[in-house]
Amino acid sequence: MGMLDGQIALVTGGSRGIGAALVRGLAEAGADIVIADLPMQDDEASDMKAEVEGMGRSCRLVHMDVTDEASVKEAVAEAGRIDILVNNAGILKPMPLEELDGPTWDAHFDVNARGVLFVTNAVLPQMRERKSGRVINIASLAARQGIATEGHYAATKAAVVTLTRVYAQEAGADGITVNAICPGIILTEMAKNKLVGADREHWTQATSLKRLGDPSDVAGAAVFFASPLAEYVSGQALNVCGGLYFH
Ligand SMILES: NC(=O)c1ccc[n+]([C@@H]2O[C@H](COP(=O)([O-])OP(=O)(O)OC[C@H]3O[C@@H](n4cnc5c(N)ncnc54)[C@H](O)[C@@H]3O)[C@@H](O)[C@H]2O)c1
Repeated sequence: MGMLDGQIALVTGGSRGIGAALVRGLAEAGADIVIADLPMQDDEASDMKAEVEGMGRSCRLVHMDVTDEASVKEAVAEAGRIDILVNNAGILKPMPLEELDGPTWDAHFDVNARGVLFVTNAVLPQMRERKSGRVINIASLAARQGIATEGHYAATKAAVVTLTRVYAQEAGADGITVNAICPGIILTEMAKNKLVGADREHWTQATSLKRLGDPSDVAGAAVFFASPLAEYVSGQALNVCGGLYFH
C-alpha cells in the first residue's frame, strides 16, 4: 500500500528534470499520473509514461502550454480528475538585471508565475467540489535570497511563494492545501547549463551536505505535501537545498 494509492497527480513539465523525478516519486508512492508538457517534449514524456506504467501505475500525457490559458483549460478538461496538482513547469535564462530586456522579463513571468495562476485556477473548481485537493508549487531558493544573473527568475519565484500563501488562504476552507518547495541547486539541464567549472565546485562546497542536488532529492518533499502526513500543513514553502540557505 502506498501513501498516495488511488490519487491522481498532474505534473506540469513532468517529462524531464525535476518534473520527471516528481512523477517517479509520486508514482512510487501509489499515485496515477498525468504528465502535462509541451508537444516538443513528446519523446521524453512517452519514456516517462512507459516508466510509470512499468511501476504498475497509469500515466496519461496531455499537451499543455502553461502560458496559454485556452491550452491549460483544454488540457485540464482532458485530464479529468486531479487530486494532486504539481506546478513544476519553469524556465531560466540567466542574465544580469541591467542587461534584461522586456521580452525576457515577460517570458519568465509568463511561464513561471502566470502559468501557476492559469493552471491552479483551472484545477481548483473540481477540487473545491470534492472538498479536497493538494497543490504543490515548485518555487526556488532564488525566491529566498535572489542570486546574481537570476534577478528576473528570482522575482518570478518570489511571486510563486506569495501565490502559494494566498491560494492557501483562499482555498483552505474547501479542504485544499497549497504548499511550495524551494529547491536549491539541482543537477538538471537547467542547472547544468549555468553551472560550469569552478562555479560548480563553489556551490557544492557552499552546501552543508557538500553535494549538489539530484532531481530525486526534491520528490520526497512533494510526496510529503501530497500525503495524509501533511493534512494540516498549508501555505508553507520548504527549502530542499542540502543546507545551503536557512530562512
Ligand atoms: N534545476 C534547478 O536547480 C532548480 C532549482 C530551483 C527550482 N527549479 C525549478 O524546478 C522546476 C523544474 O526545473 P528543471 O530544472 O527540471 O527544468 P527543465 O528545464 O529540465 O524542465 C522544465 C520543464 O518545464 C517544461 N516547460 C517549460 N515551459 C513550459 C510551458 N510554457 N508549458 C508547459 N511546460 C513547460 C519543459 O518542457 C520541461 O519539461 C522549474 O520550475 C524550475 O524553476 C529548478
